[in-house]
Amino acid sequence: MARMTDKIALVVGGAKGIGLAIAERLAAEGASVAITGRSSSEVAKVAASIGPKVRGLVADAGKPEEIEAAISAVQETFGRIDALVLNAGISEPASLEAESAENVDRHFTLNVRGPVPAAKAALKAMSAGGSIVLIGSIADAIGVPTRGSYSASKAALRSYARTWTAELAPRGIRVNVVSPGPTDTAMMAAVGAEERAALLSLIPLGRLARPEEVAAAAAFLLSDEASYIAGAELCVDGGVAQV
Ligand SMILES: NC(=O)c1ccc[n+]([C@@H]2O[C@H](COP(=O)([O-])OP(=O)(O)OC[C@H]3O[C@@H](n4cnc5c(N)ncnc54)[C@H](OP(=O)(O)O)[C@@H]3O)[C@@H](O)[C@H]2O)c1
Repeated sequence: MARMTDKIALVVGGAKGIGLAIAERLAAEGASVAITGRSSSEVAKVAASIGPKVRGLVADAGKPEEIEAAISAVQETFGRIDALVLNAGISEPASLEAESAENVDRHFTLNVRGPVPAAKAALKAMSAGGSIVLIGSIADAIGVPTRGSYSASKAALRSYARTWTAELAPRGIRVNVVSPGPTDTAMMAAVGAEERAALLSLIPLGRLARPEEVAAAAAFLLSDEASYIAGAELCVDGGVAQV
């Protein structure tokens, strides 16, 4: 499929895991792609490995000034942004009794506050036909022990997608959420064996998602094939939050 031919895409947090799979998929579908990540060596290596039309930019998704500079660089290089993916996120466990203000702040700084200046800056380079995908989580809708701050941050992100849709749809810009279930990345590898087994036992399809499966959903929502889908949450979760 080449649904992204002539489109310019930016994946914030595109150097690893789900973000990398999305960048690879968008490039394979014909887009010119820019990715951000914090490690210059990783970003350069990954960008080169995806293909010649990929630009790697060093930026911390939790630092507005760095993301704004990266977005300016994309605009300078490509002239505009048609597709924006806000993927960077953290998930660190803490039960209510072990919760700390620092842990709450860490989640909300990156997962919620991070996407706001990024979307705001990218909007200046986006016109009618543009599409934004926020990477949420099915944790926004279910209770997962020790994931309170993470889940709350993803619920906030899902809420932003509704408001931004109401604000941006009149300008022809669509905003949607892709919410993965447990997915086979470094984030999941950091989950303890007991929690991992408990999660797996709840998944109707009986396995973790592959990052490529999440990327397929994001690519669909970013493409013109999804031209009448706005403000939606597409769950890629093997059914775990659906049954
Ligand atoms: N894996 C799952 O089971 C799962 C399930 C539901 C939702 N998700 C969501 O999917 C997204 C991608 O996660 P992943 O599974 O692909 O995990 P991952 O491989 O650990 O990737 C995490 C991403 O977040 C960025 N990041 C991590 N810590 C950061 C920090 N302190 N400051 C700035 N950026 C930081 C990373 O960028 P750098 O390159 O700069 O490190 C990377 O792009 C996240 O939003 C996550 O919540 C994942």
